[in-house]
Amino acid sequence: MDERIITNHPLEEDQFEASIRPDSIDEYIGQKEVKENLEIFIKAAKMRGETLDHVLLYGPPGLGKTTLAYIIANEMGVNIKTASGPSIEKSGDLAAVLSSLEPGDVLFIDEIHRMPRYIEEILYPAMEDFTLDIIVGSDSSTRNIRIDLPPFTLVGATTRAGDLTGPLRDRFGIVSKLQFYTIEELTQIVKRTARVLGCEIDEEAALELASRSRGTPRIANRLLKRVRDFALVLGNGTIDLDITKHALDKLKVDRLGLDDTDYHLLKSIIEKFNGGPVGIEAIASSIGEEQTTIEDVYEPYLLQIGFLKRTTRGRVVTEKAYEHLGIKRQGSLF
Ligand code: ADE
Repeated sequence: MDERIITNHPLEEDQFEASIRPDSIDEYIGQKEVKENLEIFIKAAKMRGETLDHVLLYGPPGLGKTTLAYIIANEMGVNIKTASGPSIEKSGDLAAVLSSLEPGDVLFIDEIHRMPRYIEEILYPAMEDFTLDIIVGSDSSTRNIRIDLPPFTLVGATTRAGDLTGPLRDRFGIVSKLQFYTIEELTQIVKRTARVLGCEIDEEAALELASRSRGTPRIANRLLKRVRDFALVLGNGTIDLDITKHALDKLKVDRLGLDDTDYHLLKSIIEKFNGGPVGIEAIASSIGEEQTTIEDVYEPYLLQIGFLKRTTRGRVVTEKAYEHLGIKRQGSLF
């Protein structure tokens, strides 16, 4: 089993996440602008008695795209059907999902950028005119048939909006970018999740946990679960600051939320490439990680906290990262 706290494969966490997910937009913490706009669009659609326009949510993993999709369905008072880009392998897979929709349903497609291009084309008329064009028969006797679909809302989620084709992106009426959360917002999320799980956590412990969760609720909630274990076994069950620090040190999550892979990545660039600039392919092969994992999971936060810079010639480790790692820059006068 993958024991990492940071992954882009949330599947094994689905049940836990589903159990702590807020149901309404009022309970959803953070992403103020996205939330406020969505509230307006949802209200307007309901006032007109229409389905909500198609929504594209993008941003790094773990920021609550799936949660928002469920909230949209709840707030609209409709059912949600879910699929993911990689699971739609044949055009028939998508046709089956589309033809199962009931009027008003939300269809959530996670990792929509990973859907094959030729399948994507089936979505165009489905999104625009609520029709499904399928080819039946084989070889010499193929026919196109057009099936009417009920009006529905497609909610697409992606970590890479840039990987979507222009025609697909253009068919989303609402496009929202999710941002990393502030420490205050994450503190609130940690306290809310603790309440839902029925465990006690001190204010300062919640703040410590939030500070080490790299702006990401999924990470904060996973860490909370682990810290809760330490509190139960080594303490009296209440999560206080000491237990939190002890647990997070044991989990090798540092003061800023960096883990072994972040260290490995930064140190490789420093030691093997003299701090950069270096291309992503070289970094990936030097640390034995997939390029997409680095780009989607690790890099966004390292860029956000100013530890990495992207230049036209490649990635560069910044002075701030050298200081955090306690490494002197080669050739530095100091
Ligand atoms: N759990 C995960 N993300 C959340 C959010 N944004 N608000 C409340 N609870 C959450």
